[in-house]
Amino acid sequence: MMTSNEIRQNFLDFFASKNHKIVGSAPIVIKNDPTLMFTNAGMNQFKDYFLGNKKPSNPRIADTQKCLRVSGKHNDLEEVGVDTYHHTMFEMLGNWSIGDYFKAEAIAWSWELLTDIYKIPKDRLYVSVFEGDKKENLPSSQIALKEWSKLVPSDHIVFGNKKDNFWEMGDTGPCGPCSEIHVDLRSDEERNAIPGQELVNKDHPQVIEIWNNVFIQYNRKADGTLEKLPAAHVDTGMGFERLVRAIQGKTSNYDTDVFTGTIAEVAKITGKTYTFGDSKQDVAFRVLSDHIRAISFTIADGQLPSNNGAGYVIRRILRRAVRYYYTYLDYKQPLLYQLVDVLSRQFENVFPELYLQKSFVEKVIREEEKSFLKTLEGGLRRIEDIKVTNN
Ligand code: GLY
Repeated sequence: MMTSNEIRQNFLDFFASKNHKIVGSAPIVIKNDPTLMFTNAGMNQFKDYFLGNKKPSNPRIADTQKCLRVSGKHNDLEEVGVDTYHHTMFEMLGNWSIGDYFKAEAIAWSWELLTDIYKIPKDRLYVSVFEGDKKENLPSSQIALKEWSKLVPSDHIVFGNKKDNFWEMGDTGPCGPCSEIHVDLRSDEERNAIPGQELVNKDHPQVIEIWNNVFIQYNRKADGTLEKLPAAHVDTGMGFERLVRAIQGKTSNYDTDVFTGTIAEVAKITGKTYTFGDSKQDVAFRVLSDHIRAISFTIADGQLPSNNGAGYVIRRILRRAVRYYYTYLDYKQPLLYQLVDVLSRQFENVFPELYLQKSFVEKVIREEEKSFLKTLEGGLRRIEDIKVTNN
């Protein structure tokens, strides 16, 4: 079975072989863009290239980017760990063309990588194409349809509206129609009963989007209008943890080797067992193994927990993790900081910034845990006192 490290490396090697320059991940915390607090997509660091404000040394770029999404319809913090495929921090594998290749190459290469290199069965893959939007005067994506039709049968192509198939970086910024690739990981019996194309973009936990190919051609301006950009670009984003799950044949992202190391460490520390289910105890295991990534990498990138802005987002994530281990794993001392060692070693060669600052990150997390545990215990004591007084 391909390990997650091999899967990531294969992605980078594949695009290097197509003359892409491999670059490092930008920090997960954004300090110089008032429109964004955290990196939410691989393309953020290339925004000025798309807008034509800067020119890259090589028009073809690829990387793996640390991203954080903790708000919005599909990224409600309270849902993370309850389901098996949404995360706070995730890695986004991406390849970019800055005014260079366009739809034909991007589509052909994504198919080649998924089916020839990663060997994902073709009959489990579905693609979506933008159907156009009259209100915004946007045409349907006929070129993407033509290119996909060379590779996949028509019953594996679905059409999507602006919500699903027109990608925007935020309220303003580069944007364009997109073509997503979805994988159907259900059993053959289930697939025979309901065809996969009926479940694309329907929040089915086993029929999930893995890759988004965006064809950036517009800039959304502050007044809401779309301005055509001087050049057309490719911006792709593939959810690494979901890809690993598809390749390793698991039904949950948490059963892949991206997460099993931290889950095993939580079991060792607490003496509890992870049983792959929906109990609160199992959710706690998933919450901890997810949240420790977001907390550790943002601190390593320079964002301390605090009472406002980006720091408050980190504090909220950390406190949610503490509540989970305190309540459902019956662990009453700082736990999260003990996971940093395993995590930093896992990512030593991918995002070395955590390994290099391990002691500092551990110290910040431990202090934050200690102070919140004190507040939590104080609150619980007060509730007990009120109960005694009222009885
Ligand atoms: N920029 C492409 C994506 O995030 O889906």
